[in-house]
Amino acid sequence: MEIIIQPTAEASAEIGARIIRKLLLEKPDAVLGMATGSTPVSMYRKLIEMDLDWSRVTTFNLDEYVGLPQEHPQSYHSFMWENLFSHINIKPENVHIPDGNAADVPKFCADYEAAIKRAGGIDLQVLGIGSDGHSGFNEPTSSLASRTRIKTLTERTVRDNARFFDSAEEVPRHVITMGIGTILEARCNLLLAFGENKAAAIAGAVEGPITANNPASALQLHPVVKVCLDEAAASQLQRADYYRWVYDGKPAWQRY
Ligand code: GLP
Repeated sequence: MEIIIQPTAEASAEIGARIIRKLLLEKPDAVLGMATGSTPVSMYRKLIEMDLDWSRVTTFNLDEYVGLPQEHPQSYHSFMWENLFSHINIKPENVHIPDGNAADVPKFCADYEAAIKRAGGIDLQVLGIGSDGHSGFNEPTSSLASRTRIKTLTERTVRDNARFFDSAEEVPRHVITMGIGTILEARCNLLLAFGENKAAAIAGAVEGPITANNPASALQLHPVVKVCLDEAAASQLQRADYYRWVYDGKPAWQRY
């Protein structure tokens, strides 16, 4: 894992955006995995400002609530169009977001996996992390080999996400999410985490044992993971000084 610690979330989001810009310049028909939540919003804003060509890019989102109408303001469908897709020249037919209203959920999930394969696999997957270590909506005890499927949220995630709804009762209990196995097949994973609330989950994911209790810890098995943090999210890392030392000593050609 490459751990990149920046003084602020803004500076860290800038690095995330540069990593994606570099990929899109090198591979204009890249396949990107997208994430929602408050964390990637500033990186998406920076990507919009970079005015890149998205006309040949394909995207697959990590997850979606089950049962929310697509046009509901808190659906991940609405989130993605509002925070990114409406502001770039991506073709709507190249955007894939799990359908939380699919009539046949298992079939939808199998088709979603097949569509990722047909597109050539994901070049770069953007990830956030929940305060309990979930990535996508792979809650603790998710199989580390899991594929796209329906999941039930933990009470903690319902509570965490209630801030986006009028009340916790309105947060759907079920979701469709890519699995940890799906995420591990992306060629590169870009994990962003900002704020004190994420510090324990990040310490577990980066330095803890690989365990289904912190599903993001499975990323330790992946060969190309870039973790962009602010100081608060990095505050429980035991080897933070080493990560800074590595990043500060990088040759210019390796920087973003
Ligand atoms: C949700 C999303 C995750 C995201 C997490 C953290 O549960 N399904 O993909 O990483 O929230 O959200 P935030 O970035 O708002 O802290």
